[in-house]
Formats: sequence, structure tokens, C-alpha cells
Amino acid sequence: MTRVAPFVLVALLGASPAPAAENPDAALLSEAQKLFKPLPRDLATAGFPITTERIALGRVLFFEPRASLDGTVSCARCHLPALYGTDGLARSIGVKDRPNPRNAPTVLNAALQPFAHWRGDRTSVEDQARKALVGPPSFGQPDVESAMKQLDAIPGYRALFQKAFPRDPQPVNADNWASAIGAFERTLVTPSPFDAYLKGKVSALSPSARAGLRSFIQQGCVSCHNGVGIGGASFQKFGLTSDYWKETGSKTADKGRFDVTGNEADAYVFKVASLRNVAMTPPYFHDGSVASLPEAVRVMAKVQLGKDLSPEELTPLVAFLESLTGGVPESFSASPVLPAAGFTAQVR
Ligand code: HEC
Ligand code: HEC
Repeated sequence: MTRVAPFVLVALLGASPAPAAENPDAALLSEAQKLFKPLPRDLATAGFPITTERIALGRVLFFEPRASLDGTVSCARCHLPALYGTDGLARSIGVKDRPNPRNAPTVLNAALQPFAHWRGDRTSVEDQARKALVGPPSFGQPDVESAMKQLDAIPGYRALFQKAFPRDPQPVNADNWASAIGAFERTLVTPSPFDAYLKGKVSALSPSARAGLRSFIQQGCVSCHNGVGIGGASFQKFGLTSDYWKETGSKTADKGRFDVTGNEADAYVFKVASLRNVAMTPPYFHDGSVASLPEAVRVMAKVQLGKDLSPEELTPLVAFLESLTGGVPESFSASPVLPAAGFTAQVR
């Protein structure tokens, strides 16, 4: 029998039981809980409250093409449920086949963000929904009234608007269009395995995804991609350590927020993308210039952090990003029946 020297015994006793902070899984979880937050049940705010009637109307309007200039373009044309609220194109195609200058981000969890669009030139999902009516490469209407006139001519809409906005004498108007669609969007939340993890279930993430989370924090991705959206809440220059277009192969260099503010400091500045459901929403970046997620992560590490990551280093990061995929809500995946003789939305 080996004799245990008293000082060894003291050391052993002092070391056990291991405090939580020395368990690497517990330490990672507690660090992650400080940097990220799980999704709430919905994204209503004091300024943008939601009601059942508005959500129901907004859901119908989201799939309604008849408010557009030629009657063929709905929100769902570029934000398809089957493609996680995106269109799979590098850049969207709107009314009369007009090309959009940028890639369509997902509408899932979009209302989390304090502003919308890649350049932050929309203040809320409601502001976005109103302006989409007159966006030339979107609905293409000359003014919002023309769009509302087209809707009001369809039997059934006035009653739906009246139910959702009972105190409004003329409820079929663009503000109510925006509030209703916004209310629907504020219900499009997609809790993921990472949310279960943040609530304390360590096994919700695979060991590889946990290694990726650790790397995401240690490499510095988290300095921009953090909080409940894992991004989506701030602006940063795309290409901090080198020009982005050299890595993405973008044919034109979009100057980003500079074109909105005119401020030199905003050159090549874009919204930090929210990474929720990112594995399901290729192609990547504001111009859809990168087709695969591992390549997008490689580009990010290179141009934001000045790091060359090996394929072995990319794998766990991608596994972590895959853990941000949630389920598409049924209210979004099933097309609603639209007013007037059961007109069913055609989503291409
Ligand atoms: C022709 C395609 C098209 C149509 C139609 C369209 N969108 Fe979009 N959507 C886009 C593109 C492209 C962007 C990004 C624009 C930009 O950043 O410059 C976008 C951005 C958004 C965003 C901001 C997301 C974010 O993370 O910043 C929301 C929300 C959104 N659209 C909702 C809607 C709604 C609601 C409708 C219907 C009223 C609609 N869209 C109609 C293509 C479209
Ligand atoms: C200095 C801030 C910053 C850092 C650090 C950063 N990102 Fe980003 N990230 C951005 C910005 C800004 C965008 C949007 C770029 C664009 O398309 O204009 C973005 C976009 C992305 C996208 C594409 C999302 C989409 O839907 O197109 C992915 C994926 C991504 N980042 C992952 C990462 C990873 C992984 C790391 C760490 C290796 C990282 N980012 C580090 C700011 C940052």
C-alpha cells in the first residue's frame, strides 16, 4: 500500500469537489450566458404591440401579391417560408423583373433588430413593410395610396382591417398595413438548440458545436456577433483588416452606410448580420457573393480579424452556427387563404 503524504491529502481535499468554474462545460455555459440571450416568445414591444387580429391580417397580407404594381409581387416572393424567409438568390428580383441591389435577409427573428436592411436605412419592420410598397425593385407602386386602393377593391379586406383596427374609420391604409405585417413578423421567432443550451441544457449542443462556440468567443467573432440575435444590433465596417471584395469576389464594391449618411466613416459599413438560422440562408453577405457557410466564415475571419483559419478550425465554427437553426413557425410555412373566393397565395 502506498502511503499518501499529508500535504498531498490536503491538496486533494482542497481540490474537491471541483467548483463549477473549473468544469470546462460549466465555465463555457456561464460565459455564453453573459454574451448571448435566448429568444423571447415574441418580439412585441411597448411601441409595437401585437394583437391576434393584427397577426392574422398581417399573415394574409404577407402572402398577398395584389397590392403590388402588377399584382404579382408579395413579401413572400422574396422571403419564402421553404427557404427560411429568404429567396436563395444573390440579389432579389422585384416587380417587372427589376433587380435589387442587395441580398434578401430572412424575416425570421428580423424584428429583434433595432433597425432593418443591410445599411440600417429602415427603423423597424413596420417602417420596412410600408416602404416596400413604393420600393421600385419591390412592389413598385407610385405611392402607398395606389397599393391600398387595389387592396380595398378586393371583397373581404375591409372587414379584416376593421377587425384588426376597430377604432379606425378608414382602416385600409398604409399605416395599418405596416402595423399588421409587423405584428405577424414579431411572431416569427425560431428557438434553436443554442437557446436550449443557454437555458442550461449543455447536451443541446454537440461536442463539436461547443468547441465551435468556444472558438467563436476566443477568435473574437463575439465582439460583433453577440446578444439575442448573435448580431443584428450594430454596424461595422465589412473589411476591417483587408478589402472584403478581394475575398468575396464581389464585382462591385457597395459603399454600404456611406450612401445613406454621406459620412466617410461609414464607407463599407454594414449591419452586423444576425446569425440565427444562418446555415439555412445561403448565399451570404449583403450581395450574396459567397455560396457556402464555411467559405463565409473563412472570409469573416480573414477580413474582420486578419486570421487565416484552416479547414479544421472552420468545422467546429460551422457546427456552432448550425446550432442556431430553429424550426420555421407553422403560421409561416403554411400559405394562408386570401380574401375573395379563396384566392390561394402562389409562392414560387
Ligand atoms: C423583390 C424582393 C422583395 C420583396 C417583394 C420584399 N422584400 Fe424584404 N427584403 C428584400 C431585400 C433585397 C432586402 C434587403 C434590402 C437592403 O438591405 O437593401 C429586404 C429586407 C427586408 C427586411 C429587413 C431584414 C433585415 O434583417 O434587415 C425585412 C424585415 C423585410 N425585407 C420584410 C419584407 C416584407 C414584410 C415585405 C412585404 C411588404 C418585403 N420584405 C418585400 C427583398 C424583398
Ligand atoms: C468587426 C465585426 C465582425 C467580426 C469580428 C465578425 N463579423 Fe461576421 N459579420 C460582420 C458584418 C458587418 C457582417 C455583414 C457583412 C456584409 O455582408 O456586408 C457579417 C456577416 C457574417 C456572416 C454572413 C451572414 C449572412 O447572413 O450573410 C457570417 C456567417 C459571419 N459574419 C460569421 C462570423 C464569424 C464566424 C466570425 C468570427 C470568425 C465573424 N463573423 C466575425 C461583422 C463581424
